[in-house]
Amino acid sequence: MIIVQISDLHVGSQFLPEKFETLVNEVNQLNPDFIVVTGDLTNEGLMKEYEQCKKLLTKINAKKIITISGNHDYRNTGYLLFKKYFPFETVNELNDKVVLVTLGTARPDRNEGEVGYRQNLWLERTMKKYKDKVKILAMHHHLVAIPDTGSDQLTVVDAGDVLRTILDTGVDLVLCGHKHRPWVWNFGKLMVVNAGTATSERVRGLFDNTYNIITIDDMNVKVDLKIVGGKRVPIDDIVTNYSQFGDE
Ligand SMILES: [Fe+2]
Ligand SMILES: [Fe+2]
Repeated sequence: MIIVQISDLHVGSQFLPEKFETLVNEVNQLNPDFIVVTGDLTNEGLMKEYEQCKKLLTKINAKKIITISGNHDYRNTGYLLFKKYFPFETVNELNDKVVLVTLGTARPDRNEGEVGYRQNLWLERTMKKYKDKVKILAMHHHLVAIPDTGSDQLTVVDAGDVLRTILDTGVDLVLCGHKHRPWVWNFGKLMVVNAGTATSERVRGLFDNTYNIITIDDMNVKVDLKIVGGKRVPIDDIVTNYSQFGDE
């Protein structure tokens, strides 16, 4: 099974249409089963941006495109529009072995993320139902801080509670967006993967637009990072070969 994670499209003033065209061609060639878009589909949460984004996403071929809202989508009462343009299910049984659950971390006119007590309880109950399956959790805000992104106060504010639930219920893979900086943290069996921005000029740390390709073979999960119009590498490589911009 192939799942492509694209994130932070930011359709609107900082959107790069030619990158999107390259992305569509590349992703369609991969012939993925599912696409997960981890938030910030629009730049300002405006109706015209939602309309344009909806049209653009129809160019990608997959069985299902799962979308999650980001803080930018929730601006300007955009949270009311998100439901209308991108109705979604929180529990997605991708096949008899793999489940993908989504969390809503965006709150209207706030930049920081929050899961909340009730949603965290729900997550625990939900994941426990899928004990012997590959469990993927997708959310917009990053669960764990990322290098080179400054004095970060925009992580999920209740990350400790959520991380405990995730580890306790044996989640295999967490997919986040928001920071526009691809990264991976490995915690034993759990992998926390961050996507870069696929199509906006708001790149950070790694100065390319990127997305992630997740391959699930039986119960094994593998994640590759793909530069839009560039190379594909195992995502662990960016951690192993880490160097700060400007380093020799
Ligand atoms: Fe973003
Ligand atoms: Fe964001």
